Parts: sequence; C-alpha cells; structure tokens
Amino acid sequence: MKNRIIKKSRLAPQVYDFVIENEQIAAKARPGQFIVARAHEKGERIPLTIADLYKDSFRMVVRGVGKTTYELCMMNENDVLSDVTGPLGNPSEIAYFGNVMLVGGGVGIATLLPIAKELKKHGNKLHVILGGRSKEYVIMLDEFEKIADELIITTDDGSFGIKGVVTDGMDLVMNKSKIEVAWAVGPTIMMKFCSLKAKELGLKIWVSLNPIMVDGTGMCGACRVTVDGQLKFACVDGPEFDGTKVDWDELLVRLSQYRDEEELSLRKFKESVGDLSWL
Ligand SMILES: Cc1cc2nc3c(=O)[nH]c(=O)nc-3n(C[C@H](O)[C@H](O)[C@H](O)COP(=O)(O)OP(=O)(O)OC[C@H]3O[C@@H](n4cnc5c(N)ncnc54)[C@H](O)[C@@H]3O)c2cc1C
Ligand code: FES
Repeated sequence: MKNRIIKKSRLAPQVYDFVIENEQIAAKARPGQFIVARAHEKGERIPLTIADLYKDSFRMVVRGVGKTTYELCMMNENDVLSDVTGPLGNPSEIAYFGNVMLVGGGVGIATLLPIAKELKKHGNKLHVILGGRSKEYVIMLDEFEKIADELIITTDDGSFGIKGVVTDGMDLVMNKSKIEVAWAVGPTIMMKFCSLKAKELGLKIWVSLNPIMVDGTGMCGACRVTVDGQLKFACVDGPEFDGTKVDWDELLVRLSQYRDEEELSLRKFKESVGDLSWL
C-alpha cells in the first residue's frame, strides 16, 4: 500500500530509519532530492531527504526535534503516512572529480549517504568526515565504511574518533590530499563553519540547506535564502548551493523565527502523549 511503513529501526536516540512503500518515488528520485510528508491528515507538512532507494520503496531517516518529527518517530511498521510528495528539489551535481571530501553531521549523515554512493559509482575517491555529539549519534557508520577511501570520525566529547569538530577533520584531510570538491550536510551552524573553512582553503563546497519549508514547490516563499546576494528558494533552486556564497546569518535568524510557536506546540504534544525520552 502506498506510503506504508515497511520497515522501521532505531539508529540513535530519537533518530529512526524508515523504509516507505512508494513506487513513483522509487522510480524517479535521484541523490540530493527530498520529499514533503504528512504523518496524518491533520499533520504539518515537513521536508525529509530521500536517503536511499529500493525497488518499490524509499528510505528516510527522521530525527525527533519537534511535534511532527516526534509524531513520525512514534509511527510503527504497517502504519501509513497520510501523504508524501516528491521527489522535490534538484539532484546533486555528480560527476567524476577525483578526490572528494564529504562532511556529515547528525542526521545530515543520512542526506550525505546517497550522494556518497553516487560519487563512488562515478569513480571518485571519498574522504569522509562524520561528526556527532558522542559515539551513539554517529549514524550509518557501517554503510560509510564500505564506500569511504578515508574515514575520519569526530565527536564533541571524544567518546569516539577524534575529540573535536568536523572542521578539524577537514584540516587533516586537506593536509594529506588534494581535494577537488566537497559536500557538507548537517546542522546549519556546522555547514556555516565548514563553508568558512572551505573558503579559507580555496575549496568549492556544496551544502544542502534546510530552511523551513511548507509547499516545497516554490510558491509559499517560506524557504527563501540569499545566495551570492540573490534571492533563492531552497526547494526549487536547491536544496544544494555553493556554501561559500550563502548568507548564513540570515538563514540562522529565519530558522529561529517561529521558536516560541514550535516550543508551545511541542509542550502541548508532550502533555498529550507523555514523556518522550524513551524514543
Ligand atoms: C530539504 C530538507 C531536508 C530535510 N531532511 C531531513 C531529514 O532527512 N531528516 C530529518 O530528521 N530532518 C530533515 N529536515 C529537517 C526537518 O524538516 C525539520 O526537522 C522538521 O521540519 C521539524 O518539524 P517539527 O514539527 O518536528 O519541529 P518544529 O516544531 O518545526 O521545530 C522544532 C525545532 O527544530 C528546528 N527546525 C525546524 N525546522 C527545521 C529545519 N528545516 N532544519 C533544522 N531545524 C529545524 C526548529 O528551529 C526548532 O528548534 C530537512 C529539512 C529540509 C529543508
Ligand atoms: S517551501 Fe514554499 S517556496 Fe520553498
């Protein structure tokens, strides 16, 4: 049945991996694209990256941060999402470049995986840096181990890999190899610092932006970002852009514009469902 959850597994606290039945998306999607989903008829529409494709289904990884993502994380195998629109956005611009650096943080690691697989298929050498708060938040490690030519892990608390942040890993890679192009996907603040580092190193870097989105088709204006001084809609012009040209401070301000409403909505949700720390 369309949009049925075929498989669900836990990757980290409050991070779940889903396989969703949907032939159309499986047939058409390409690395870098996303969907907009609603958990139920009265639910909010949220964008989520297509993390992998199978014969009649696709994969998505969801991190619970607010009402809708928690609702999704609480759904179970055989539940059906009320609707899924996609594939949306432009695919990643993938070709043979030579040495490519891939930087992933948090749930952004799931967005990076299909890009990494496609780059590998094109014969690129992959220098991968994955970062997380601590060991348990570095997701999909086994999958990256299979395709990475170099793999560096950084954790904020030093519980795994190098104690530090992903930009420390970027320095390590750049000291040893001549990198042609990089991708960085993760929290906005992480992508901002990766882009500043890339600019300092004279390196082209793609980032996958995650502004608030509503329709995902260029009509509502919610996902407006400024890139190279020009107004862009991340849903139709992106989601990937040259990170050295993004107005990061504007994006960070726009991401926090509904914080009070988001906190209120989450508080009310928690009052109705109870404690969510078990997720
Ligand atoms: C193109 C795209 C692809 C994405 N892919 C994924 C994915 O594969 N997996 C995943 O878990 N999330 C992904 N996101 C982020 C996801 O859409 C948001 O976390 C979600 O919309 C939050 O909804 P909510 O109702 O749960 O929380 P809200 O109540 O809307 O927000 C709760 C908290 O999350 C923050 N937040 C809200 N929207 C975003 C956002 N777009 N990005 C980052 N933080 C946000 C808010 O500032 C607030 O602190 C993607 C976003 C975009 C634009
Ligand atoms: S989400 Fe509405 S214009 Fe992009």
